[in-house]
Amino acid sequence: MKPLIIVTRKLPEQIEKRMKELFNVRLNNDDHIFSQEELKSAVGEASILVPTVTDKIDADILTNAGPALKLIANYGVGVDHIDLKSARNKMITVTNTPGVLTEDTADMTMALMLGITRRMSEGERMLRAGKWQTWSPTGMLGMRLSGKKVGIIGMGRIGQAVALRAKAFGVEIHYHNRQQINSLLEKELDATYWKSLDQMITQMDVVSLNCPSTADTFQIMSKRRLGLMQNHAYLINTARGDVVEEDALIELLEAGSIAGAGLDVYENEPNVNPRLFALENVLIAPHMGSATEEARQAMGEKVLINVKTFIDGHSPRDRVLGEGL
Ligand code: DGY
Repeated sequence: MKPLIIVTRKLPEQIEKRMKELFNVRLNNDDHIFSQEELKSAVGEASILVPTVTDKIDADILTNAGPALKLIANYGVGVDHIDLKSARNKMITVTNTPGVLTEDTADMTMALMLGITRRMSEGERMLRAGKWQTWSPTGMLGMRLSGKKVGIIGMGRIGQAVALRAKAFGVEIHYHNRQQINSLLEKELDATYWKSLDQMITQMDVVSLNCPSTADTFQIMSKRRLGLMQNHAYLINTARGDVVEEDALIELLEAGSIAGAGLDVYENEPNVNPRLFALENVLIAPHMGSATEEARQAMGEKVLINVKTFIDGHSPRDRVLGEGL
């Protein structure tokens, strides 16, 4: 009897086809989001669970894990929705899909950075509403990116890919990271390391969040730190909603105390704080950083490889250990 694999969301067709060929898999054909009850029953029954960011696999859910559950093969790189400690206590291996969505997430970061500094969505809204009257020497002025300072929080794969792109737009690259990156890479990216995040923030024209969501990065852009940003500066977040104190950000945006924000992620997804909808100085997207055909296919390939490797009795390459684990 082949181990039962339960997939919580609809995956790209080719991936599901291959899963059916290789495994005993239960798919989610109508792509509904699993309720808590469905998640509990899935972890109780499956040998391998393939969840996504939309499934909160917390300690309570994992209390219901059956003896068969040995692998959680996440479809996605971020694993902040999985209680890694509980998984480890139950000897459940967790894997993710790193590397294959780096370029797309970095592209999205740049899209938000360019879009908000050049007021793209505001301009489009004006045009579609029939409110554009004429070209004007003083109309719709934004901020030139070239020559400005961009501070990247989190210089892992995605942060580095953002730095490469931003460099091509003529910006100065600054970064804060748990550890300074090696000097060769630093030189290649022309990047300046700031040990003190507070000090970096006060000097930046754009601050971009590209770190994972962990206990250490929870609200790393706190009310106090957001308050350190310059009045003309912009915040970009393609990481996770909880790395920013969202209410405090909204207050600053409403007051015009910072120039704007480009956001792809939110504190309570899929519920977005309605106060954000009322603001002209935000460019908002519905968690689309990895939303390309190519990335979603490659993420599926990674899941296939992780599951197959595990079933064949080997240690999958994309095992997530988690901090302090
Ligand atoms: C990721 O892979 O972490 C993306 O944000 C989607 O989950």
